[in-house]
Amino acid sequence: MQVRKLGPDGPTVSCIGLGTMLLSISGRPPEDQGIRVIQAALDHGISLIDTADCYCYDHNDFHHNEKLVLKALKGRREQVTIMTKVGCRRPGGAWTIDARPEYLTEATHNCLKSLGVDTIDLLALNSPDSRVPFADSVGALARLREQGKIRHVGLCNAQVSHIEEARAIVPITSVQNRWHPQAREVEKNGVLDYCKRNQITFFAYSPFGGTLGAPTLGTLKLAEQARRRRVSPYRLVLAWMLAKSPVCIPLPGARRVESIVDSVLAADMELDSEAVKAVEATLPPR
Ligand SMILES: NC(=O)c1ccc[n+]([C@@H]2O[C@H](COP(=O)([O-])OP(=O)(O)OC[C@H]3O[C@@H](n4cnc5c(N)ncnc54)[C@H](OP(=O)(O)O)[C@@H]3O)[C@@H](O)[C@H]2O)c1
Repeated sequence: MQVRKLGPDGPTVSCIGLGTMLLSISGRPPEDQGIRVIQAALDHGISLIDTADCYCYDHNDFHHNEKLVLKALKGRREQVTIMTKVGCRRPGGAWTIDARPEYLTEATHNCLKSLGVDTIDLLALNSPDSRVPFADSVGALARLREQGKIRHVGLCNAQVSHIEEARAIVPITSVQNRWHPQAREVEKNGVLDYCKRNQITFFAYSPFGGTLGAPTLGTLKLAEQARRRRVSPYRLVLAWMLAKSPVCIPLPGARRVESIVDSVLAADMELDSEAVKAVEATLPPR
């Protein structure tokens, strides 16, 4: 598995990470299957896992995903960098943003307990909260970092203006935004370029468009290219992202072992600039 450095001063991790959200939200597989998916990812070289306190059914089930990850990593914790996220709540199963500093601090302390660690490898803010000055939310994470509760700070769902504002407060290691063949905003809103210029890791979330988008990949023109290369369209999408940005680490999700075992093979594909152009010619317009 190829590796990439996390931010300007983080550890080296696999160039593909595992997003574990689908193992805990509605439609999740039985626990033993979820554990097998995580362990298969590790067996195939993945060393970065993306979880969040809010990956669960609802508020009664909060931290389900972090606990599942911890269970799956028994005896292998040192192999993996874990990124978790705070700033989202699940009242009655809904998804709501809460990035008030006091809530972020409380949520981070609960993540430390769920993950059974004294310091979180990488903690990301789930989303800017329009009701809270962004600097206040980031300030809470900066204080937690000063206290040694967090090693690295990340942002999610951020614009360039957010990243710049945050970097004036605390070093930012990563940005996690949506990027998939049918949602290419980060290519034109400057986020992908900004991350590259500043050696900030760009985590591409929902790289296949989530559970709704993934089945449609096979119907895009891209699937013809994938067939010609004798790979799945999923693998081609990940290889395209890796070739397009040297700071990108895609975060494919999976509920089945077969899915993640197929996706990790994208790390072995090399697409030159002609191949990247050819893939792009098959994508819907940006
Ligand atoms: N920060 C944020 O706001 C945010 C938001 C959403 C997601 N995320 C992160 O992004 C991660 C991934 O996103 P996601 O899970 O929504 O969607 P995704 O990775 O775009 O798609 C997952 C779907 O693709 C299918 N799939 C994956 N690899 C496949 C393969 N090689 N062959 C066939 N099917 C394949 C899976 O099938 P099976 O289920 O059948 O295996 C699953 O249905 C999440 O786990 C989470 O960590 C972050």
